[in-house]
Amino acid sequence: MSNKRIGILTSGGDCPGLNAVIRAVVKSSTLKNWDVYGIPYGTDGFIGIANGKYQADDLILTKHGYALPGMLKGLDVLQFLSGSVLGSLSKGHPGDPKITEAILKGYEMLDLEALIIVGGDGSLDIIYDLAQKGNWNIVAVPKTIDNDVPFTEWAVGFTTAVDIVTQALYDLTFTAASHERIMIVQVMGRDAGHLALNSGIAGGADIILIPEITPFLTSEVVNGCCHQLMKLRTSGRHFALIVISEGVKGENHESEKYIADYLEERILKQVSYLCDINDPVLCGLTSLDIRATTLGHLQRSGTPLSLDRLLATVYGIKAVELIEEEKYDQVVVWREGQVTSLPLKPIIKIIKQCHAEKRCAFPVDPQGFMVKTARSLGIYLGDYSD
Ligand code: F6P
Repeated sequence: MSNKRIGILTSGGDCPGLNAVIRAVVKSSTLKNWDVYGIPYGTDGFIGIANGKYQADDLILTKHGYALPGMLKGLDVLQFLSGSVLGSLSKGHPGDPKITEAILKGYEMLDLEALIIVGGDGSLDIIYDLAQKGNWNIVAVPKTIDNDVPFTEWAVGFTTAVDIVTQALYDLTFTAASHERIMIVQVMGRDAGHLALNSGIAGGADIILIPEITPFLTSEVVNGCCHQLMKLRTSGRHFALIVISEGVKGENHESEKYIADYLEERILKQVSYLCDINDPVLCGLTSLDIRATTLGHLQRSGTPLSLDRLLATVYGIKAVELIEEEKYDQVVVWREGQVTSLPLKPIIKIIKQCHAEKRCAFPVDPQGFMVKTARSLGIYLGDYSD
């Protein structure tokens, strides 16, 4: 078995499970006698190598290990930790020729046979272009709490984020019930509604608004929310949970940083209008007490759930296997209960096209079973009113 030099980097927004991928890659590579170079802060690490900030030898994860000192020496904890021990890079510098040159130089200096990229669709798009320029052999591992990487059912980090939001909804239920309040919870996901939809179902939401079904908070949508709240009240429940995805936009198609607060305002305005016109049904909502919560980056940093650790581990091992087979330009995916890989080229083409058209590369299917499940539970999704 030949001794290989491979690299690994994490890129884009961090998420639970990145360290579990790194651990799996390092462990299985150690057994093969390979050297694994951990590139700090995404592709910026290559710039650091090119300009002498980092010495190649210091980056060899297989040599330096990652075990804890003292009494805990030898304890293998990496898979339990959130974040990335390598650091990550949110926005690269695509298109800057000087930066590109430095990245390519740093890569060349390491003399790597292959590079594992743990990233979401944005990072894959950027790094694929670099790889083409530098003739890099790459294997990608999808990660993102948004779960919007096409052709894989699961991206690392998603299930943990779903769990964090679900737990937050559970916790908010009790204060909501105690004060007979409507809690609006703003959930991440960029322009995809997977996180909001899945956690909303698991967390018992009464209303879930996602960009794939409710791209804009029109008067009809807000009215529909009021109807749903009235329906709950009539049934004897005086509190409610609303989950809104950050990708939902305002009435005039404008992006709102705090879309949950915006919805709160809109519902209150609508209710006071309904009262002014003496709406016989909805006027009863005047005493609505609403609070908005934006969960923010808490959604990115919980301890990875076992499912994410398993996924990360399986993906990491698969990436190493692909390199062993010299099967490059692949992305590791989960499809129909199996881990497998697909060629990156056609997937990147789709991702690029979606980015150019400002569309999500893997949106929630409005006809899919998750949406049907929500409807069957009587959850209001913003696209009908009765
Ligand atoms: O893509 C992951 C994600 O957490 C999105 O859900 C969110 O919109 C974005 O990253 C936040 O990015 P930042 O960490 O740069 O604020």
